[in-house]
Amino acid sequence: MIVQLIFLTALASSTGVIVTPTEGRNNKAIPDPQAECRSFYADVYAETNSNIDLKSVIGGPAENQQALTEPIISYFAAGSTLPSQIFAAPTLEVKETYQLWFEHCRPKSGLVKGVYQTHHGLVGNAGYWNVQGEIQLAVKIGCIDIDYVTGDGNYTTYSFAENAAANGWGVGRSAHPVGTNTVQMPFEIQQSISIASALREGTLGDIGKLTSIIGIGHSYGSALLTGVSALSPSTFDAIVLTGFSNNVTEGPLGLFSFQSTIASVAYPERFAGHPNDYVITPSQTNDQIEFFHYPNYTQEALDSFTSGKGEFPLGQQYSVEFPFTLNRENYTHPVLVITGEKDGVFCSADCYITSLDPPATQLDTTKVMFPSVNNFQTVVLNDTAHGINSHKTAKEAYKRIFEFVDGLSMGVSE
Ligand SMILES: *[C@@H]1O[C@H](CO)[C@@H](O)[C@H](O)[C@H]1NC(C)=O
Ligand SMILES: *[C@@H]1O[C@H](CO)[C@@H](O)[C@H](O)[C@H]1NC(C)=O
Ligand SMILES: *[C@@H]1O[C@H](CO)[C@@H](O)[C@H](O)[C@H]1NC(C)=O
Ligand SMILES: *[C@@H]1O[C@H](CO)[C@@H](O)[C@H](O)[C@H]1NC(C)=O
Ligand SMILES: *[C@@H]1O[C@H](CO)[C@@H](O)[C@H](O)[C@H]1NC(C)=O
Repeated sequence: MIVQLIFLTALASSTGVIVTPTEGRNNKAIPDPQAECRSFYADVYAETNSNIDLKSVIGGPAENQQALTEPIISYFAAGSTLPSQIFAAPTLEVKETYQLWFEHCRPKSGLVKGVYQTHHGLVGNAGYWNVQGEIQLAVKIGCIDIDYVTGDGNYTTYSFAENAAANGWGVGRSAHPVGTNTVQMPFEIQQSISIASALREGTLGDIGKLTSIIGIGHSYGSALLTGVSALSPSTFDAIVLTGFSNNVTEGPLGLFSFQSTIASVAYPERFAGHPNDYVITPSQTNDQIEFFHYPNYTQEALDSFTSGKGEFPLGQQYSVEFPFTLNRENYTHPVLVITGEKDGVFCSADCYITSLDPPATQLDTTKVMFPSVNNFQTVVLNDTAHGINSHKTAKEAYKRIFEFVDGLSMGVSE
């Protein structure tokens, strides 16, 4: 309780938005005939005084893999005090502009209802939102041909929304500051608020002004959105939390199974030169354990996940609990929680096992986080694990997400 009060007081003073486009280029990997996509860099300013002085607890970048693994074991050890030490650590101020890589898609014709602002999870990058469903037709969320989803022969441009997929900061093409004390949940929550303000003001690249913004996250990105809804309740018109519940798995199927490995050690050909506090899952087996349910995906989907997965900073791994300490009493907008029945990270691989009364699932544990929300919905996708987008059920997942968003009757932006 004391910890919560400290966080809330500290966060109250966070402000600031400056977003400046720095470069434009067109390098979209997978063409979508219905959408116009492009990528660009933008400088995003944010500030917080709630980052955690993790270095004072776990030290700076580890000298080698063994030195990195030891505190991870200690964190999960019986009687571990590491989580409480991290919560009790001094907080730090970070006020900084960092360059983020964005991909933005809009329908080639028709009306624009709004924008999905995406926040991917750990081991992800902006590529996570290239949905790789059963027919390997890569599409962008928000630019998916509804015909592809529903198969009714009707192309409903109206149902599209634009998609701004930020590559998580410290991931892929975005800036890589020192990952221990800088790239953490409290700062990233403020960055998310800055991005959304820029979208509303029409200052993010040349995307234009958007009046409706749906925050959509996956895993860590969903936790981040719950932080935004606490600290800036009006930032999003609705949030979609994929790969999420309020019952984070603490056992072997949880975060521990990532077996976080120094990125440049696990995949030197991709990550040579990255500092030792940037980590990644070291094998395809780890990827399967955390993200996939066999056999409900194609080999190609798994292979492309493993070859395209993203590094992440240790500061994210150790600050992931932060949003769960916040109070969301002022957030009233709609919430959809959706994940796979076999989600290992948030359901211990069976979302139907719950101590809540039937017909609840573990996803309904999320309701207590949103005491003032009336439109709260959950969807469990059978035969699907944490990495929803890579499963054969991805189409069904996005059909459900679009139905939810369509039901909100948002205004048209232009
Ligand atoms: C497309 O959807 C509209 C609105 O629901 C409907 O009126 C129309 O008949 C549909 N067209 C086809 C070809 O199904
Ligand atoms: C998952 O795969 C099994 C085995 O192929 C199949 O029977 C089942 O229908 C699949 N589930 C879904 C939702 O596709
Ligand atoms: C909710 O809003 C009220 C009125 O603005 C404010 O006094 C209160 O501190 C807010 N609660 C939180 C948790 O931010
Ligand atoms: C949380 O998950 C565990 C399995 O890890 C389950 O036994 C428990 O019932 C869940 N709690 C709730 C409130 O659903
Ligand atoms: C999903 O799986 C659960 C548990 O196995 C089952 O009770 C339910 O009927 C399934 N739902 C669908 C839509 O297949």
